[in-house]
Parts: sequence; C-alpha cells; structure tokens
Amino acid sequence: MKGGAVMVTRAKAGQSGSPIVVLVVHGPNLNLLGEREPEVYGRTRLVDIDKELKQLGRELEMKVETFQSNSEGAIVDRIQQARGKCDVLLINPGAYTHTSVAIRDAITAVNIPVIEVHLSNVYRREPFRHHSTIADIAQGRIMGFGAESYSLALRAARTIVQESRRQSG
Ligand code: DQA
Repeated sequence: MKGGAVMVTRAKAGQSGSPIVVLVVHGPNLNLLGEREPEVYGRTRLVDIDKELKQLGRELEMKVETFQSNSEGAIVDRIQQARGKCDVLLINPGAYTHTSVAIRDAITAVNIPVIEVHLSNVYRREPFRHHSTIADIAQGRIMGFGAESYSLALRAARTIVQESRRQSG
C-alpha cells in the first residue's frame, strides 16, 4: 500500500481556536529555588513550579513551555525564539529585572504581551529592587505571593489572550 503524505501544519500563535501557548521564563538563581533564601522565596523548587504550571495549563487548555537561565544572552535568545510562536510571555527576570535593557528590548522586539512575575514583593525589600526595566512594557505585574505568583499570572495570561482574540474576531 502506498503511503499518503501527511502534512502537519502548526497553527500560528494568536489564531483563534488554536491552543494558547505560554512561555514562562525564569532568570538567574531561580534554579536554586527551595534552597535559596527560603524565608524570602519559599520552599517550593523550580521543577515543582514548572510541573504545577504545566498541570494548570492542561486544565485551562493552554500549552506551557518553561525555560530557566542564569545568562542574560540565553534569555534574550529564548525570547527571540518565541516570536510568532507564543501568545503570551510570563517572565521573572530575577536580578536582571533591575538592570537589563537587553531583555526589555527583546520583549519589545517580539511584540508578545508580557506579565512580570516575582515571588517576593520587591517593594518590601531594598530600594535597588524597586526599579524594573520592564514594568512599563508589561501588561501587568504579579508579585509577593511566592510560587502562587506564577499560577495567578497564568490565569491572567489566559484572560489577556482570550480578550485579544475576541477583539480581533
Ligand atoms: C525576584 C526578585 C529579584 O529582586 C531577585 O533578584 C530575584 C528574585 C523575585 O522573584 O522575587 O532573583 O525576581
């Protein structure tokens, strides 16, 4: 029997009807969650946060991709790869929140809505943590709820994409 060719086309991000694709980016030192300053960041490990986000994503019919790097350039590369493939970005840039113009520029370049996430409430901490290079380009910022900040952000991400799909018909 001759096999027929099967063409697999991946729906472009943003098309209504296609599953919502979310990229979750974790910045430097977040690989140490659970061990690192647990009184500030809690005891939940990063693998468990990612697992929970993927599970919640399944419940909300969203595809959740996760990425962690300690390197600013690697984070910029990953954001660039999301161009045209992801509907929304959740990012906790860690310490790069307070310094990185490169991450800000990458987000602006890919033109994907972004939610800024932090485990701790940075405004209850040192003044140098009060400035964020991405605060003014974010749709919103969620902070201070420990690991739960991420799941709150995922729910908000769904609303943002659904609303923009509704508006674009
Ligand atoms: C953080 C806050 C940053 O100031 C810090 O550098 C981090 C974690 C947070 O999630 O609370 O690494 O982004």
